[in-house]
Amino acid sequence: MGEEREKVGILVISYGSRAAAVIDALSRSEVYKARFYVADKQRNPFNAEHAEKHVVIPDLDVGKICDFVEANKNDIDFGICCPEKPIIEGVRDALESRTGIAIICPTKRYAIEASKVSQRRLLEECCAEANPRFNVFHRAGYANVSEVKSAVWAFLDEIGDEVAVKPDKPAAGKGVGVWGDHFTSREQLFVHFASIFDSGSDVIIEEKMEGEESSFQAFCDGKRLSVLPDTRDYKRAFDADLGANTGGMGSYKDKKDWLPFMAERDREKEEKLVKRIFNRLRGNGSSEELRGMPFYVAFMHTREGAKILEINSRPGDPEIQNVLPVLKNDFVDVCFRMIEGNLSRVECEEKATVVTYAVPIDYGGYRVKFSGDKKVELSGAYELTKKNRYGDNLRIYPGSMELREDGYTYALGSRTVCTVGIGETIEEARGISLAGIRNIDGALWNRWDIGAEHHIQRSVRRMKELRATTPAAYTGKR
Ligand code: GLY
Repeated sequence: MGEEREKVGILVISYGSRAAAVIDALSRSEVYKARFYVADKQRNPFNAEHAEKHVVIPDLDVGKICDFVEANKNDIDFGICCPEKPIIEGVRDALESRTGIAIICPTKRYAIEASKVSQRRLLEECCAEANPRFNVFHRAGYANVSEVKSAVWAFLDEIGDEVAVKPDKPAAGKGVGVWGDHFTSREQLFVHFASIFDSGSDVIIEEKMEGEESSFQAFCDGKRLSVLPDTRDYKRAFDADLGANTGGMGSYKDKKDWLPFMAERDREKEEKLVKRIFNRLRGNGSSEELRGMPFYVAFMHTREGAKILEINSRPGDPEIQNVLPVLKNDFVDVCFRMIEGNLSRVECEEKATVVTYAVPIDYGGYRVKFSGDKKVELSGAYELTKKNRYGDNLRIYPGSMELREDGYTYALGSRTVCTVGIGETIEEARGISLAGIRNIDGALWNRWDIGAEHHIQRSVRRMKELRATTPAAYTGKR
């Protein structure tokens, strides 16, 4: 790549490995030479190395992000924000009005991730068949605990005990309690319910959806969606889907746009549902307020077809790391198109990818404390990214880790670093991802079964079993 590339200044608001993947994808542009202005949760070594200017804002406070951008506004052409907290708090609204710089993410009004209740109401209007039965328990609606308990009991009498209990706010998958996983009696269920209710949040109780999950992501310029291949996230902390829910321990993508346990028509159904949500929100025209990734939708493929678990207004982590490394389009160009409102089809190489996260050994809630050395050395993994080893088929994206004054990098509290393997098959991609993981030096652990054949075959079998019991009313409608 010659120096004749056009210079472009890009603000990246960063939380975790996802931002490193974004910076990597933007850096690979053959047309633009990206210069990064990074507002980061901590001194991420990858981001710091790539940044023209790097500032640490641990709480990603919108006002502080605005101050950073204001001070550099003559050098920044556009910005991109992936973490949900600033999006929900209106970072785009604030930055665009204070600096005039276009930001890629939805405005506060369209950050529908902010409320699970609003999502369910929206789906009721446009995609009722993808909504489970649900009820909302508002904080203000009950005089005391026994009153709300009676209301919960009455709802369970109506739909059965097999439910999910969720706070009406984003909880990174961690506030959700599910019958059979987190509680097995009504009393236990109510303990979970009360912990959310007492924390000041409304609570939503939904019918539990049995099936297999997929993650759907699409870029949006306000006029159209450009859909990306499906991925499968692994939420549980330990192999065989045991342990607590986490932010996601890894994910896989197949060569085609849908997953091995899905049929092409399942993917088509997902697209139809998401387009209906998009059409509903944009009304008759377009709404550039939806720019970015307004619909990262977690689907559950059930015996009754595709249902929606939740909608997020940002790229998934780790799911977007499955996709960005295999984008065929120039990602800077895709960003400009989202801003200019002329987004066209975004294509990916026909490759499988597997993301595996390495996390601190006290992550996931089993080991209460780890007071040992938290130093993490990634040079062994980077060694494998050389041309004579895996080359570009292995990517290493640091997340919750920081570069300190002593020149070493240290793990913090959340998911430390992910490795992305790219291959002709999921198995090949998994081998490459795990080779990267094995060569990280540090007190970390990871799941070994992300994208493993036995795990995928279990999904295929479960889906077959569920479909064998599909009620007649649903056949042909999937
Ligand atoms: N993969 C889970 C999330 O991004 O929320």
